[in-house]
Amino acid sequence: MSQDKKVAIVTGSAVSLGNAIATRLAKDGFRVVLQDISQENLDKAKKEFDNQGFESIAVVGDVSKRDDQFNVVKEAVKAFGKVDVFVNNAGVESVEPFLEIEEKEIDRVFNINIKGVIFGTQVAAEQMKTQDSVGKIINACSIAGHESYEMLSLYSATKHAVRSFTHSTAKELAQYNIRVNAYCPGVADTPMWERIDAAFVEHKGYEPKQAWKEFTQGILVGRPQEPNDVANLVSFLASDDANYITGQTILTDGGMVFR
Ligand SMILES: NC(=O)c1ccc[n+]([C@@H]2O[C@H](COP(=O)([O-])OP(=O)(O)OC[C@H]3O[C@@H](n4cnc5c(N)ncnc54)[C@H](O)[C@@H]3O)[C@@H](O)[C@H]2O)c1
Repeated sequence: MSQDKKVAIVTGSAVSLGNAIATRLAKDGFRVVLQDISQENLDKAKKEFDNQGFESIAVVGDVSKRDDQFNVVKEAVKAFGKVDVFVNNAGVESVEPFLEIEEKEIDRVFNINIKGVIFGTQVAAEQMKTQDSVGKIINACSIAGHESYEMLSLYSATKHAVRSFTHSTAKELAQYNIRVNAYCPGVADTPMWERIDAAFVEHKGYEPKQAWKEFTQGILVGRPQEPNDVANLVSFLASDDANYITGQTILTDGGMVFR
């Protein structure tokens, strides 16, 4: 097997933004490791990759479990010999009035959105530091990592934490030739946003699609985000063209949040 093709792992890549990112990286010439907690959706995604002739493996796992994160890197190295890019994409939303949040919900969201990114970064860095090439760790942040939203207090807190970890780990891992950056999407029409909209209906008495309209109506480029808008940025960050960029958390939101 040729060693010159780069290898990328994308967590939460069975559907939505993660799938668009994995597809784009495959088109860019990466061997891709699809990873997701949903075996059923992962099987569908793998079949689609096979149909398109992309070189890939699929590994089921939960990013909040340290052993699962080590396993996905182990499987990647077994199949393809190395890991050049690790995209910490998997994440979950939480939409509730702050005063109603229970401990179980705090643990759920922090375990996936923060522990998941920490474990993913640790396992990726352990592998990348054994390699000669530049390693890239790319985290899913959000506009909610730059701005704190009502009803999204837990989610916003976790994405602010992702931004902070992106900065700290970029500083610590530079010595191993590893770059750490993040992409910060705005409002994309994925199952995540369907659930956010439904939660505004439940908790705030909104009409269906009212939250979606409120969040999207002021976007400067005049339309909501499409998954490929996000994949375009990740493709750039994963490429050699971004080798001089580290510790950045880059907004791709069509003009919503200005930093
Ligand atoms: N959709 C948006 O508008 C938006 C905006 C900003 C940031 N983001 C971020 O982008 C990332 C992807 O969002 P999305 O809209 O595609 O979400 P989504 O809910 O539509 O899809 C998420 C995928 O991750 C998987 N997943 C969930 N928990 C997992 C776990 N513990 N381990 C492994 N896989 C898991 C799901 O099965 C699913 O396939 C998230 O980190 C999210 O916070 C999304």
